[in-house]
Amino acid sequence: ENNPLTDSFGRHHTYLRISLTERCNLRCQYCMPEEGVSLTEKTKLLTTDEILYIAQLFVRQGVTKIRLTGGEPTVRKDLVDIIENLKKLPGLETVAMTTNGLTLTRQLVALQRAGLDILNISLDTLNAKKYEKITRRNGWKKAMAGIDLALQLGYNPVKVNCVVMKGLNDEELLDFVELTRDKSLDVRFIEYMPFSGNKWHENKMVSYKDMVDNIKKVYKDFGPLENGPNDTSKAWKVQDFKGQIGFITSMSEHFCGSCNRLRLTADGNLKVCLFGNTEISLRDAIRAKCSEDDLTTLIGAAVKRKKKQHADSSADLQSNYFNIPKSTLYHSNL
Ligand code: GTP
Ligand code: 5AD
Ligand code: SF4
Repeated sequence: ENNPLTDSFGRHHTYLRISLTERCNLRCQYCMPEEGVSLTEKTKLLTTDEILYIAQLFVRQGVTKIRLTGGEPTVRKDLVDIIENLKKLPGLETVAMTTNGLTLTRQLVALQRAGLDILNISLDTLNAKKYEKITRRNGWKKAMAGIDLALQLGYNPVKVNCVVMKGLNDEELLDFVELTRDKSLDVRFIEYMPFSGNKWHENKMVSYKDMVDNIKKVYKDFGPLENGPNDTSKAWKVQDFKGQIGFITSMSEHFCGSCNRLRLTADGNLKVCLFGNTEISLRDAIRAKCSEDDLTTLIGAAVKRKKKQHADSSADLQSNYFNIPKSTLYHSNL
């Protein structure tokens, strides 16, 4: 296929994740060090118009879903404006966002009115004190209120992202499962991944298999569901519960074979893999007045360089047991 968004392994990319900012109002242990991350100077970040222009390029080549991420996307002032304008792009079906939820009680009505279709909210604990420990900030009540508001406004399901860490929140799995009894939540337990500066260690990670085993011990009718072709999470459910559970197995069972994602960083770099380096600066190309055709060619060449998997050989892996690449990750590229 000669579509610029199809790679050399036949994967067609229809999903663009745009990081709107590197900044965040939390300091989650698994994501950033206490002091935060070094921020790119303002003039090097994409403007509202540049984001919309790049989004349009990708949508013209076949992207049907855009997810806004961060850092924390809601700290960006032009968020409503961005969503409203993305929704005007013909061919774009879905605008989604991943947020820590802290500002939703203040902003969600406006975001929904602007057209936000899908909402994933991060919540790693059901205990306010522990939230403070994990995120190094206050905010548990606000995050919970954000989730409730999302349900009230009709987001269905509301996806809740929970990064599971041994000794920190792994005792709470069953409490999270219980949340799905009466609420339309899709709680996704995420295997803890290594990032530069997050002090990851193999023995702090809880694997998919261990999580499923623990839940099955208590919920006898906990069973797997069908998954979509590009889902990152493996869906499960306790029979007769309203919501469901998912497992994002980035470490123990990668899903590179069905990857349909591309990433745009807040400073305008294109990444073709979460675990890879940046390929090209679309910001520089745009500011150099590159034509739309030339931009599309540049993007196509970058996509063709995408590797089959994030680590090609055992030499690229930190451990042969888990699929952990040696390359380092940065929080703002999620
Ligand atoms: P949807 O499938 O669009 O609902 O989103 P998602 O689950 O991919 O996105 P979200 O932002 O909620 O991320 C949840 C988790 O999935 C995070 O921990 C990500 O690190 C992980 N994730 C997202 N994209 C990728 C990817 O391309 N590769 C891997 N290995 N993990 C990913
Ligand atoms: N491992 C797994 N998931 C992570 N996230 C952030 N850091 C990590 C990590 N080290 C999750 C956040 C958020 C999503 C975008 O990525 O919790 O929900
Ligand atoms: Fe912020 Fe999300 Fe990172 Fe937590 S995981 S520090 S909420 S960007």
